[in-house]
Amino acid sequence: MATPHNEAKMGDYAETVLLPGDPLRAKYIAETFLEDVVQVNGVRGALGFTGKYKGHRISVQGSGMGIPSMSIYINELVKEYGVKTIMRVGSFGGMAPELKLGDVVLASGGSTDSSVIANTFGPGIYYSTLPDFGLLDTAYHTAKDLDIPVTVGNIFAADRFYNDEIDMQKLTNYGILGTEMEVAGLYLLGAKLNIKTLDILTCSDHVFRGEALSSEERQNSFANMMKVALETAVK
Ligand code: HPA
Repeated sequence: MATPHNEAKMGDYAETVLLPGDPLRAKYIAETFLEDVVQVNGVRGALGFTGKYKGHRISVQGSGMGIPSMSIYINELVKEYGVKTIMRVGSFGGMAPELKLGDVVLASGGSTDSSVIANTFGPGIYYSTLPDFGLLDTAYHTAKDLDIPVTVGNIFAADRFYNDEIDMQKLTNYGILGTEMEVAGLYLLGAKLNIKTLDILTCSDHVFRGEALSSEERQNSFANMMKVALETAVK
């Protein structure tokens, strides 16, 4: 059934969806990596596509930025369109000193200052948001087989892109590899909706060193993350 945010019909999405934040990246992924592509959503510019990768049906949907926007698309993909696996393919700001621009990270845990955890469980519960282990294991070994170096660890989903209040150095001291704005919401919904989720990320900038990829470098480094995601999707 169509929703206020999605005009697709039941069956338009594949069971596995790749979820970039940027709708134009969804278009680029569909056009670059998939065959027999059909656009299934265009409402609010949140572009969604379904196509084939090595003969397997796969969809790609732009989620917008941050947990609130992404959660709308995930809820509807699962409840209205029967989606079973969602892999976010996004960028993050590196915090760990050893991370370089272009590095690929698999988030084995999501930490957050978002209110979604307290809104779900009430005060005093610090729920650990985790990916599907099978998906993480497959993605890790797929990357190894493809000779693509990956780092696995804890990612911090910030509620605000612009914030001066959080002690990012302290989070880094406690093992946080980097920051984006979605991982904890993705994994929380994975648990709630009983689907498989994984956050696969490319380091697009470094929080402490102030470095950032140019748009051309972004595209190239992005290819490694996409290979890992697509090959994992068809295993
Ligand atoms: N902060 C939040 N989200 C991001 C960042 C960042 O530094 N880089 C890419 N996504």
